[in-house]
Amino acid sequence: MAKAIVGLQWGDEGKGKITDFFASGADVVVRYQGGNNAGHTVVVEGKKFKFHLLPSGGLRGKKLVIGNGVVVNPSVLIEEIEMLSGYKTVDLMVSDRANVIMPYHIVMDGIDEERLGKKKIGTTKRGIGPCYADKIARLGIRMGELVDEKLLKERLEVIFSMKEKIFAAYGLRFDMEKIFEEYASYGEKLRQYVDDTIYYLNSIIDEKEILFEGAQGFLLDVEYGTYPYVTSSNPVAGGISTGAGVSLRKVEHVVGVLKAYTTRVGAGPMPTEEKGRIGEHLAEKGGEYGTTTGRKRRCGWLDLVAAKYATIVNGIDAVAITKLDVLDGLDKVKVCTGYEYDGKTFDRFPFSIRILQDVKPIYEEFDGWDGVKGKKRYEDLPIKARKYLDFISDWLNVPIEIISTGASREDTITIQAD
Ligand code: GDP
Ligand code: IMO
Ligand code: MG
Repeated sequence: MAKAIVGLQWGDEGKGKITDFFASGADVVVRYQGGNNAGHTVVVEGKKFKFHLLPSGGLRGKKLVIGNGVVVNPSVLIEEIEMLSGYKTVDLMVSDRANVIMPYHIVMDGIDEERLGKKKIGTTKRGIGPCYADKIARLGIRMGELVDEKLLKERLEVIFSMKEKIFAAYGLRFDMEKIFEEYASYGEKLRQYVDDTIYYLNSIIDEKEILFEGAQGFLLDVEYGTYPYVTSSNPVAGGISTGAGVSLRKVEHVVGVLKAYTTRVGAGPMPTEEKGRIGEHLAEKGGEYGTTTGRKRRCGWLDLVAAKYATIVNGIDAVAITKLDVLDGLDKVKVCTGYEYDGKTFDRFPFSIRILQDVKPIYEEFDGWDGVKGKKRYEDLPIKARKYLDFISDWLNVPIEIISTGASREDTITIQAD
């Protein structure tokens, strides 16, 4: 059967660490959406590993699958396979249906951002949006075509005939022959990994344990997030069904990863953002600099209005609270349980980003604590920190299964369900 790990905020919740943790009990770890906009960190014996495309189960030596819903930058994938093969045997299968990020996607991502000026999304400029747009417009190239020179050439010809005017409107010209040669050589290197992952996953799902690893986070979901300040895929647990070709009924346990506070990279509303001393404390103590782009993340208090929305829509069975140690040493810890806007209070996450930009968070305040860092047993956590955790669990009406007290694998507390 299957379990899923999904981010409940704006990404960077610590999905890499939690996936690595659960991967010890899994046979196969699968990415189902996003691309190398993701940056998932796993820290083992003091060494930091960053995964952008390969699932974070790589260091456990598990079978890795890149599902059909992922967008693949082939040169990044080749680099990452090389990186991992220095530590483990790479047992990888990449969906023949996964779409390929092309050089023009990356260039156009950058130009779109420039054109948006002050209204820019703050994308990772990895070509993610333009690649998904082409997929939906039926102008994509899939991995099964990348690894077959004849099909690749055919697709490129169709796509260039359709897109040349669009390229020109961007002031761009691309040499199709050059792209063909470069991409055919990637195809050659990746051919051994490309296969039908849909039949494969369905053939093993009743006997083996599959772990799905979400990228980004629920509030960046193109459908449910703070549109248009979102990514172009579906990180929501429901995305597993379309992004990996597996029935949702087979996913029996969905774990939501919730950072003990909030971060966001890029533009868009973030009601609990703290621009002063608290924000600085969280950014510095939490090392809140992007894993992919190195950008400083915006920081603020935990937003339970947003987390509840994420919990409901993802069908969360349990949460993993990460980075609780980062709150060590604060006098007071706050958590948002409602919004105030235009003289009214409410606790539903609104559709309108204009409202979200202007809401005033309503906070519950807790006494601060010290000494969470590195703790390995629930009993050893400070009582005041446990009060904070109980409040979160009660408010969300979901049990806490994991508490992460540091970046390393060992700094993890598991709580058995009653
Ligand atoms: P992901 O994208 O959700 O996998 O998260 P990232 O890897 O981008 O960002 C999380 C960062 O926090 C990484 O640098 C992790 O090594 C680190 N991290 C994860 N869990 C903890 C924790 O419990 N405490 C601390 N201090 N750091 C953590
Ligand atoms: P992981 O998997 C945090 C954000 C970008 C931008 C928006 C759109 O590490 O949690 P895109 O390049 O996807 O078109 O950018 O989404 N974003 C992320 N923020 N963590 C991520 O991934 C992200 N992937 C994209 O900063 O605001
Ligand atoms: Mg990340």
